[in-house]
Amino acid sequence: MSKPVNIAILGATGAVGTELLKLLESRNFPLKNLKLLASSRSAGNKLIFKGEALEVEEVKTNSFNNIDLVLASAGSSVSKTWVKAITSAGAVMIDNSSAFRMDPNVPLVIPEINPSSLVGHNQIIANPNCTTILMAMAIYPLHKTQPIKRIVVSTYQSVSGAGMQAIEEMKKQFKDIFDDKKPEAKILPYPLAFNLFLHDSKMTDMGYCEEEMKMVNETRKIFNEPDLKVTATCVRVPILRAHSESINLEFDEPFPIDKAREIILQTSGVQLFEDWQKNRFPMPFDASSNDDVLVGRVRQDISHPCGLELWICGDQILKGAALNAIQIAELLINENY
Ligand code: A2P
Repeated sequence: MSKPVNIAILGATGAVGTELLKLLESRNFPLKNLKLLASSRSAGNKLIFKGEALEVEEVKTNSFNNIDLVLASAGSSVSKTWVKAITSAGAVMIDNSSAFRMDPNVPLVIPEINPSSLVGHNQIIANPNCTTILMAMAIYPLHKTQPIKRIVVSTYQSVSGAGMQAIEEMKKQFKDIFDDKKPEAKILPYPLAFNLFLHDSKMTDMGYCEEEMKMVNETRKIFNEPDLKVTATCVRVPILRAHSESINLEFDEPFPIDKAREIILQTSGVQLFEDWQKNRFPMPFDASSNDDVLVGRVRQDISHPCGLELWICGDQILKGAALNAIQIAELLINENY
């Protein structure tokens, strides 16, 4: 039995923060004390944990005294603001933001793929981008069997990836459209209800937005394949929860379909989800609140003898964020990293 630890959730009231709270409860995490931190906006609000109402506190310099582990999910700038206070208090930070992911001294971890990168960490551990985690979970077992040469991926990302306020905004837009009113967009740049648009993250001078470059660079770092060829197109779609991705893989040799299906069937954390007779493949509704990444429509690419096509759906708040962070925390505690 692992020694219980003191945990703080930074961003406890957010889409990922509230899920972290549920997971600490449902997975019976070895917990001594739990502190809920957010901005002054929600200080004093109460969240329920194990039947008890816990008060949310505004994050302050001394918030991390006596804390062993901080689960941070309040965005990049908040993580950068508090990282010093966290590490100088002696706590380990598992950070869900992109602030430190590409820092060579910070491990970027998916427990099923690269747990050993935690060895010798410097108190900061990065949780990868959600679309990257979901794709990596589905394709790494194939890559281990036969190295992937090139990845072409298009994503269909739900609104919850943009946080609680974006969810509420999209719900209101649907309602307004049904009421013949003009939908307004303040959190995301355009109305998402009955619409879609290319990912709203900052454009880089490569012609790819930051979200797309996260898929490129983070996949390379997690797989420890700095030269892996990856190209991504990321799209926001009017779905509440769970991201979908169309993935095309190219190998040096043909990858037998039966072998690919067998590997997916035997991998924990992914599920082969396909019924070819009924033309039934993963949908966001299937993946929502599901810990596993659902993989279906595994087929030969008819345009390339060494190509494979996959369709995946995964809950980006769970395995794409909160669950992966909790699994890292469990590794740290149980394996004594
Ligand atoms: P708050 O409720 O006080 O705004 P989401 O990703 O769903 O938008 O959630 C973001 C989370 O990050 C929320 O818990 C939010 O708290 C928190 N947060 C946002 N800005 C800050 C900040 N400046 N300091 C601390 N927490 C913040």
